[in-house]
Amino acid sequence: MTRPDTGDALLRVTDLHIDYDTRSGITRAVRGVGFTVAPGAIVAVVGESGSGKSTISQALVRRLPDGGRIVSGSISFDGRDLVTMPDRALRRIRGADIGFVPQDPSNSLNPLMKVGEQIAESLRLHRGLNRADAAAAAVRILDEVGIPDAASRAGQYPHKLSGGMRQRVLIGVAWSCSPRLVIADEPTSALDVTVQRHVLDRLETLARDQGTAVILVTHDLAIAADRADQILVMQAGRIVEQGTPADVLGAPSHPYTRELVAAAPGLTSGRLAPRPASAQGDAYAAAARSRLTLAFRASATATSVPDILAVDDLTKTYSLRQPAGGAKTLTAVDAVSFAVPRGSTFAIVGESGSGKTTTARIAARIVTPDSGRIRFDGQDISSVAGEELRQLRRRIQVVYQNPFGSLDPTMSVERLVDEPLRAFKVGNRSQRARCGSCSPPCASTPPSWTAGPRSSPAGSASASPSRGRWHSAPSCWFWTSPCRPWTCRCRSRSCNCSWTCRWSSA
Ligand SMILES: Nc1ncnc2c1ncn2[C@@H]1O[C@H](COP(=O)(O)OP(=O)(O)O)[C@@H](O)[C@H]1O
Ligand SMILES: [Mg+2]
Repeated sequence: MTRPDTGDALLRVTDLHIDYDTRSGITRAVRGVGFTVAPGAIVAVVGESGSGKSTISQALVRRLPDGGRIVSGSISFDGRDLVTMPDRALRRIRGADIGFVPQDPSNSLNPLMKVGEQIAESLRLHRGLNRADAAAAAVRILDEVGIPDAASRAGQYPHKLSGGMRQRVLIGVAWSCSPRLVIADEPTSALDVTVQRHVLDRLETLARDQGTAVILVTHDLAIAADRADQILVMQAGRIVEQGTPADVLGAPSHPYTRELVAAAPGLTSGRLAPRPASAQGDAYAAAARSRLTLAFRASATATSVPDILAVDDLTKTYSLRQPAGGAKTLTAVDAVSFAVPRGSTFAIVGESGSGKTTTARIAARIVTPDSGRIRFDGQDISSVAGEELRQLRRRIQVVYQNPFGSLDPTMSVERLVDEPLRAFKVGNRSQRARCGSCSPPCASTPPSWTAGPRSSPAGSASASPSRGRWHSAPSCWFWTSPCRPWTCRCRSRSCNCSWTCRWSSA
């Protein structure tokens, strides 16, 4: 792959140490990390969950969460030290010169602003565009990141978009001002492979044509192998190996890298290889037209056992406001029927926004369909309510796509796992404590166990199905529950006071 002149380093990180102060002690998340990034280079950061990838990405833009601090080291961007730079100067660089795509798409967009406005705001602030031009450019950018019907979607609030679409909006915000460095923390983890490829192609074009340097945090070695010029392998806060993909993945020298390579599925599948330029438009358009696909892999005896779940003719529509006024109907789920044999694994696949999550949420009775029936374990659950519905929650569990938004940040991980057990009166206190400590993600990271979920790396968080969700807005936390979606409880992050407000998305 041809790259522009890589000349001097645009970013130079030297001996960086980052700690988190938590109630259970100090977590040394990053220990003596150093690397350089040349203009136009794509540097992939890989490593297991909790190895410090997100911490480094956040530190590069001085956006470490509460409790996180740079203990020592320097981060030099274009000759200026970002660690000691005053906030005002840093604000001018963020967005304009450094675009940041955070790992969590739900907590990172302003829930009170339409997505088009969020991109337009960045263009007005950093590029001095007027309102009309910024709005038009925002629609163009949404289109570029592969959001179908971009003009209508620009007028929607984040919660009306699928997880993958929100992730694409964040990518759009990050590259809207043609920055010199894009830091993208798992930018394609919620995207289907077609959109993933589209987004990665676009990042690569930015690097090639405009000399934008890209730091790509990914757990997917196939992406690193196909796209990066340089790979950094992280383990327990340290870079254990770095070099070109051919060196690092072809002939890994560190035992941990060898383990990673051996465990990586599809490293040689080529599924993420760039498409030929001429085919891109057509292929993308064809993918956008593709519909939700249902498939299942049944066990050998599956045909002889009754279905545990059967949905029939599920339909769910939403109203989508048009930029020119009026509204059109968006059909999120269109006459979907399927049956899941007991004891089988059933996969729902499809591109981002094709209706997978909505279908799953309808089947679990979290979202109400416009029409259709749901049978679970021989019983029609389409209209169960009250205590019957509450009891159903115990029998149908959901692991949400977005671990950040699904966990109450004010509760310890222990309490989160304990809560459904208490709600359904399962076991006594000591049995519940034992059950909690068996939980695999937390058993491997005991210091996080009694800390809030924000202390845990994203990969080790899981969801509590019957709960609402916390969202973060710039000045407050607010809570939406599945039962009363638009009733929010806000709590200022700085002063901890709380009040109740009604927030309508309309
Ligand atoms: N807000 C936080 N408070 C305390 N510890 C944290 C916080 N965020 C991350 N950590 C800890 O820092 C380490 C690195 O986490 P992270 O950077 O998220 O890893 P990765 O992105 O590689 O999964 C982990 O041990 C994690 O538990
Ligand atoms: Mg991370």
